[in-house]
Amino acid sequence: MIHNVEDARRQAKRRLPKAIYEFVAGGAEDEITLNANRTGFDRWEFRPRALIDVAVRDTSIDLFGDRITMPLLLDPTGLTRVISRAGELDVARGAGAAGTIYTLGIGASQSIEDIAAVASGPLWLQVYIWRDRELVESIVERARLAGCRALCMTIDVPVYGNRERDARNGMTIPPRINVANFWDSALRPRWLRDQLFGDHLTFKNLQGIAPGDDAVAIGTYLERELYKPSSDWRDLAWLRELWDGPLLVKGIMTADDALRAAEYGADGVVVSNHGGRQLDGLPGTIDALPEVVAAAGDRMKILMDGGVRRGTDVVKALALGATACMVGRPYLWGLAAGGAKGVEQVLDIFRQEIDRTLALLGACTVDDVDRTLIRYAGST
Ligand SMILES: Cc1cc2nc3c(=O)[nH]c(=O)nc-3n(C[C@H](O)[C@H](O)[C@H](O)COP(=O)(O)O)c2cc1C
Repeated sequence: MIHNVEDARRQAKRRLPKAIYEFVAGGAEDEITLNANRTGFDRWEFRPRALIDVAVRDTSIDLFGDRITMPLLLDPTGLTRVISRAGELDVARGAGAAGTIYTLGIGASQSIEDIAAVASGPLWLQVYIWRDRELVESIVERARLAGCRALCMTIDVPVYGNRERDARNGMTIPPRINVANFWDSALRPRWLRDQLFGDHLTFKNLQGIAPGDDAVAIGTYLERELYKPSSDWRDLAWLRELWDGPLLVKGIMTADDALRAAEYGADGVVVSNHGGRQLDGLPGTIDALPEVVAAAGDRMKILMDGGVRRGTDVVKALALGATACMVGRPYLWGLAAGGAKGVEQVLDIFRQEIDRTLALLGACTVDDVDRTLIRYAGST
């Protein structure tokens, strides 16, 4: 039974080979930032309002013209088929059933068109600005035709983070069964069946760009040719010209960068450290959020992700001025535990927890949540 996100994580851990589980769960280097994303929330405490009539409550919000059931969206997580056969298709189904937005990644293992065909909720697309501008442009055009509502430009991957667990586990894309991990894979027959009998794992939106069409060929091409750390703020201006819908910048950790994103035309930012997978030594995102809100909260939407595991975490972020939160690993745990239903279940748990937290705080709607409901309790 799944009663909370932690239950889903435990089930996922049982169902996935160690190398896959740790590829998802792990962070960069000493995982200081990964852990800070969680512990940061514990240093913020609620200050409830008692004896307020909370009999009628509503967790829904309006975001860039879409009404969603709660202030929680799904982050992009790339190559999701390493977890299950349908990968992103099931994530889109689960997100739609739960009534919220799914941000699919440019590095998805299913095509934008196939995902859009099964999605019943709004889709956003996350992009990296690679050196091959024509490629990015064609993907943005496909997103427009497929009905994607917003673009999200990720800016915290000039180079890949140093994830040592993957190196230690011999984690490869696509995962390879070898002598060292044979038993680990054989003991997860569902996962093994999905990997052996599903479509071969690759970056479906990028087929045709590399000399081969599999994940290794495209991944190598991405790393050698496209991922040059030469992107700068002018790329955001370029994207702004290209896309007239809502545009967000993901990977903001300071007031300065939030202001710059606003200056270059972004409609929102995602305060994010990539789930602790990139630069280790960054603070938890809940601790970076207040300075970003203070600098740019009146000019743009401020979303945040990283370590959000409970409805109380979402409401703490709202109290600090966030418009909404996003999650990555929690829905991947749901996917591993129960496919589209598992994704939906995890999201429903979040919605119920947010609703209960509002009631216990004396708030009927997301708009009732403000800075008076929270205080900093940690030592600095
Ligand atoms: C397996 C995995 C793959 C990811 N791939 C991407 C990606 O392709 N693009 C991106 O912007 N962020 C990616 N992220 C980061 C997430 O979008 C998000 O910032 C992070 O997972 C949030 O933290 P949480 O997992 O603690 O909720 C990935 C995260 C994970 C766990």
